[in-house]
Amino acid sequence: LQLLFYQNLGVEAFSMPDLAYINHDQQIVELTEARLPVWDRGFLFADSVYEVIRVYKGKAFRYEDHMERLKHSLKEIRLDFAVFHELEVIIKELIKQSGYTDAKIYIQITRGIAPRNHAFPEKTEPTLLVTIEKAKSLPESVVERGVKIISSEDIRWSRCDVKTTALLPNVLKKQLALEQGAYEVVFIGPDNKVRECSHCNIFMYRDGLVTPPESQHILSGITRKVILEIAERLKIKSLQVDFGLEALKSASEVFVTGSLSEIVPVVEIDDSVAGNGRPGPITKLLIEEYRKITREQY
Ligand SMILES: Cc1ncc(COP(=O)(O)O)c(C=O)c1O
Repeated sequence: LQLLFYQNLGVEAFSMPDLAYINHDQQIVELTEARLPVWDRGFLFADSVYEVIRVYKGKAFRYEDHMERLKHSLKEIRLDFAVFHELEVIIKELIKQSGYTDAKIYIQITRGIAPRNHAFPEKTEPTLLVTIEKAKSLPESVVERGVKIISSEDIRWSRCDVKTTALLPNVLKKQLALEQGAYEVVFIGPDNKVRECSHCNIFMYRDGLVTPPESQHILSGITRKVILEIAERLKIKSLQVDFGLEALKSASEVFVTGSLSEIVPVVEIDDSVAGNGRPGPITKLLIEEYRKITREQY
């Protein structure tokens, strides 16, 4: 594996660029210069899976968990990709060359480049794209105030445990939320159960922390996993069970979680006030603990 160093620093030598690596070129380039053929099946069919990993202090947070989930996604879509050692080398190199300590890594693996045909291509090398960008946190004022979310029918497929790039339902519903002055949308299944959001998992506090169980209807979030671990350590009772929208609306606290947004308090759902309209004490405690893990101890 040959990794060429990014050399075109030019006049902006002190402002580090976002970078990209594509396996077909075996080169690290400036992100805006990265190119893939239009025949890539990721582009034509969303025949691909992805991961987003947060880098804190120059290290990929919960890397092993992300790799385990990536392997699950690849297996479920029957995509053979075995070069996990190279992937790790590339990620370390991107962190090093970017100089970023706080960043987000995006990994996408597609079924490769081949003339457009639904059937799997024979002998096509998968495409691996890895990018690094500077992390952008949500403004602190948003976390302090909390956000509104709306509820909406889950129009996604029945394998949401697979982290595929086929995200059109998530895109449409997130846009609907934004147009209604909300931050996120919570998907409600045909059984009237709360599932997750367009790019976050959801928790409520009702005499204990409650989140929907792992299933094919939700993505097993890494942040969700970390929150459950923190709750166990702090002896906060937690339950992974299904619940409905009314239970969510009448919970004493609600928050959503994701690798980039971390923990975002929810203070309004549709047109009801959630909790007492302000981020609650358990949510605040979990935010504090999450920050300790990622900013201090880690
Ligand atoms: C649908 C969905 N649910 C949940 C999450 C949160 O997952 P994680 O905490 O691993 O970032 C994401 C993250 O992108 C997502 O897309």
